[in-house]
Amino acid sequence: MLIVLKLSAYNCLEATEGELVITFNRRDFVTFLGGVIGHSLVGCTRDSSVKSANYSEKLPQLESNNLDKLSMLEGLNYEVLLEWGQPIGKDIEFGFNNDYLAVLPTGKTDESWLWINHEYTNPLFVSGAKRGDTKTKDQIETEMKSVGGSLVKIKRNLKTNRWMFVPGSGRRFDAKSEIPFAKGMVKNSKTAIGTMGNCAGGYTPWRTFLTCEENIDGYYGDVNSKGKQIDKPFLQWENFYQYPPEHYGWVVEINPSNGKAKKHIALGRFAHESCTVHPLKDGRVVAYSGDDKADEHLYRFVSSKPNSLDEGELFVADIKKGKWLSLDYEKQAKLQKNFKDQIEVLTFCREAAKILGATPLDRPEDIEIHPKTGDVYVALTNNVERMNFHGSIMKLIPENGDHESENFSASDFLVGGDGVGFSCPDNLAFDAKGNLWFTTDISGKLIGKPPYTSFGNNGLYYVALSGENAGIARKLIQGPIDSELTGICFTPDGTGLFLSVQHPGELTKDLDKPTSHWPRGGSEMPRPSVVEVRGPLLEKLLS
Ligand code: FEO
Ligand code: CA
Ligand code: CA
Repeated sequence: MLIVLKLSAYNCLEATEGELVITFNRRDFVTFLGGVIGHSLVGCTRDSSVKSANYSEKLPQLESNNLDKLSMLEGLNYEVLLEWGQPIGKDIEFGFNNDYLAVLPTGKTDESWLWINHEYTNPLFVSGAKRGDTKTKDQIETEMKSVGGSLVKIKRNLKTNRWMFVPGSGRRFDAKSEIPFAKGMVKNSKTAIGTMGNCAGGYTPWRTFLTCEENIDGYYGDVNSKGKQIDKPFLQWENFYQYPPEHYGWVVEINPSNGKAKKHIALGRFAHESCTVHPLKDGRVVAYSGDDKADEHLYRFVSSKPNSLDEGELFVADIKKGKWLSLDYEKQAKLQKNFKDQIEVLTFCREAAKILGATPLDRPEDIEIHPKTGDVYVALTNNVERMNFHGSIMKLIPENGDHESENFSASDFLVGGDGVGFSCPDNLAFDAKGNLWFTTDISGKLIGKPPYTSFGNNGLYYVALSGENAGIARKLIQGPIDSELTGICFTPDGTGLFLSVQHPGELTKDLDKPTSHWPRGGSEMPRPSVVEVRGPLLEKLLS
C-alpha cells in the first residue's frame, strides 16, 4: 500500500492514498500512526505562541562541520577552565566526562561554587583497559575515582573578566563516596556507596546542588521489583564490589557549604536526566525530572515541607490527558496490588508508572522552566526504535500557571529535522531574558552519517522566544570530533557561558591513534574539559 505524505501547513499534514484524501492535524496524525513515525517526518515549529520566521534574519549561523575543534561563530571565543586529570585538591583530580554545570554563590564577592558532573568513565582513556581485557583491581579503582561529581570554587579575574579555578578548592564525590539516603532505607541500608551516571542536575532555592544518576546499569547492572536481573553490568566492577543496583538511579543533593550529600528516595529511582526545581510561595518546591530512555516517562515531585526534598508526592505524566498521576501508594489501589510499600514503588518507578498508564515519551532529557511564563520545556531527544530520529522540545503549561495543579496542557515547541538545522536536543537553559539555549546529542557513532549528515558535529543552539526571529534555532558553537556539548551554565556575572565539552575522541580504539586531540591539539590525547565562552556576540545576546 502506497501512502504519500505531504506537508500542507505548519500544523497540518495531508495523506493521499489513491482517490482518498485524508487530512489530519499533526497530533491526530501521530496518534493515527500509533506514534510509529514520531516527530521526525516533519521538521517544523508547531507552537502557536511562537511566531515563525524565515532564515533571512540577521543572526548568522555556524556552518556545520566535522572538524576537530570547538568551532564558534565570529564574536565568540573560549578558554579552558578545567580539564580531566587536573589536580583540584590534595591528592584529587578533576574527573572524566564532565557534564552538568551549575553555580551557586559562596557569599563572597566575585567568588562562586561550581558543581560539575562526571557522567561516565571510558576505560581506554581512564584505566587503559581495552575492550575484552580483564581488569585489575587497580584499574577498577581508577575508574571508580573518575566518575561522580566535582565541587570547586571559582573566582572572577577582574582584569580579564574571566572566571578562574581557585587552586586546592576542589572536592570529589565518586563511586567510593558513602552517601546516606535522605529518609528511609533501600535494600536494608541507610547508605549507598558511590554516585555514578551523573548526567544533568539542578539546584534548590536553599542553595544546594542536585546531581542526577542516569545510566546506572553498567556499574552493578539493574533488577526489577521481582529481583530479576534486567541489565547486566559491563565495567567488571562487580568482580571486586557487589553493591545493590537499587542504590543507584536517584537524585543526589549536595550542600556545598558543608560538603554533605544525600540521596532522595522521595523523587523516585529511574534514569534521572535532570531535576529542575520551581519554588512555591510557602517555601515548598515542585521538581520536574525525565527518565532518559526510549518510551519512559516524565515525573513531577511536590515537596511537603519547606526548604526540603526529603518528603513529598511523586507524580508521572499522562500527556494525552494532560494529567499528573500520583505514585502515592495510599491513593492507588493498583500500586497496592503490585508493590509492598511506598519505598518499593519509588525504587521501581518505571514499573509503577506503566501500571498507572503513564505516557511513553521519546527519551525525556533536560527540563527548564521559562523564567517569565513559568512554562515547562522538556527535551525529547529521539526515539530511534519508533523512527523518530531528530527529537523535539515539548512545552507543558500548568493549568492556571499553578505547578501544583493536577492538570496541564502539552504541545511541541520545536521539532528537530533537516529543515530546522538541528537534531536530538538534550540540555536546555533559559537566559535571564527568557531566550532558549540548547545543545544536541547525536550519538557519536552516527555523527556525520545518515540521517544526521547535514548537522555536522554536536552543537550549541540559540532560540529567541520573541521578536521577528522567534522560534528559529541558530547554531552558535560546534564541538570537536565525537563530542557532545553539555552543561549550559551562564557565569555568575551573567556575561559569559560555561560549557562542558564531553567525550571528545570517544570512538578512539587505539591510544596511539586518537580520533580527537582536543583541546591541546598536536598529538595529545583528547581531554573532556569545561570551557568559558565570552565575546561581543554573547554579550549582545545576553544584554
Ligand atoms: Fe546523559 Fe540523557 O544524557
Ligand atoms: Ca544529557
Ligand atoms: Ca544525552
